[in-house]
Amino acid sequence: MSTVGKSIFCKAAVAWEAGKELSIEEVEVLPPRAHEVRIKIHYTGVCHTDAYTLSGVDPEGAFPVILGHEGAGIIESVGEGVTNVKPGDHVIALYTAECRKCKFCKSGKTNLCGSVRATQGLGLMPDGTSRFRCKGKELLHFMGCSTFSQYTVVADVSVVAVNPTAGMDKTCLLGCGFTTGYGAATITAKVEAGDNVAIFGAGCVGLSVVQGAVTNKAGKIIVVDINNKKKDWAFKFGATDFVNPLELPKDVTIVDKLIEMTDGGCDYTFDCTGNVKVMRNALEACHKGWGTSIVIGVAAAGEEISTRPFQLVTGRNWRGSAFGGFKGRTQLPGLVEDYISGKIQIEDMITHRHQLDQINDAFHDMHGGDCIRAVVDMK
Ligand SMILES: NC(=O)c1ccc[n+]([C@@H]2O[C@H](COP(=O)([O-])OP(=O)(O)OC[C@H]3O[C@@H](n4cnc5c(N)ncnc54)[C@H](O)[C@@H]3O)[C@@H](O)[C@H]2O)c1
Ligand SMILES: [Zn+2]
Ligand SMILES: [Zn+2]
Repeated sequence: MSTVGKSIFCKAAVAWEAGKELSIEEVEVLPPRAHEVRIKIHYTGVCHTDAYTLSGVDPEGAFPVILGHEGAGIIESVGEGVTNVKPGDHVIALYTAECRKCKFCKSGKTNLCGSVRATQGLGLMPDGTSRFRCKGKELLHFMGCSTFSQYTVVADVSVVAVNPTAGMDKTCLLGCGFTTGYGAATITAKVEAGDNVAIFGAGCVGLSVVQGAVTNKAGKIIVVDINNKKKDWAFKFGATDFVNPLELPKDVTIVDKLIEMTDGGCDYTFDCTGNVKVMRNALEACHKGWGTSIVIGVAAAGEEISTRPFQLVTGRNWRGSAFGGFKGRTQLPGLVEDYISGKIQIEDMITHRHQLDQINDAFHDMHGGDCIRAVVDMK
């Protein structure tokens, strides 16, 4: 029996309120309206941003909500006017939309898109309403994706069709973690052959920066992490050096150490921790005259970064990167091809796997210290 044009009742992990575990519920997923699509989610990753919002410290977090923004699945049906995807397409949901029409999309300078930004931030579809119901209540959408539901509705500008031969349990990570790090190195920084780079924080994002640096044939690829368990991970993906700042002699700072290792400072550094003190160190470990530090980590609400202005006067640059600078609809299909051809490694980053009923375990894994990424089977 066709589900087109009708509500679908399925399971989803609902965040009823901040600080509580997710609860598996039967939800109603309304059919897609004009310029919307309904996706059957097959796999979703669990990212720190989901945990951050669930914890309640995110000032913009609103409840009840269906979290999740790192998902892959198959289009079930499309609303009026949708031309970029069709039922049966294998897709990745995009929390950074690409409309190709707005000022941002047309600028050629950024991957940010303004088309659905306002309503996405409110947890609503572009027409200002929600497609989720549960126990008589309306549930909010999250980051324009809500992949912790077996079916979800997203805007057509927030989805991209990719090669269906790629395993969706892997491609889901291209919806956030992998792409964010890999693109920060290859698109935002545009690391060049021989450049010395330092990556602070060897989680999924940091290790993906390492892969981007390897792709672009960087010189030294120095991973900095306070967890020694990350050393083997760093080398596995191509780091040349590993430094634990907690193990340096008392009179040597991590900035001193990196400057010494790179004969004056790094060409590029990347913060993949979200810690503002680390962001400062990452900037100051850059080479005078040209070194650039890229902020990727999301700091806690109210945090600010600081450094002496002289650091910038003398030619260091401070930049940021969202979703690795990737334009999702234009560039993700190519990244999936890179995965299929073996140019990038995603599988090795999946350390934990769960079924939807055990999705809360994925959040516990993340806080355990030996988890790179947990992937949840939504089927
Ligand atoms: N900009 C974006 O578009 C974007 C997208 C996704 C995630 N993020 C952010 O990127 C960051 C990294 O995400 P992740 O999933 O890889 O996280 P993760 O927790 O898996 O990895 C963080 C790593 O940093 C290390 N670390 C913590 N404090 C440190 C310190 N003082 N010095 C050195 N290392 C330290 C930890 O040991 C860990 O290995 C998070 O802040 C996340 O919110 C940003
Ligand atoms: Zn994320
Ligand atoms: Zn746009």
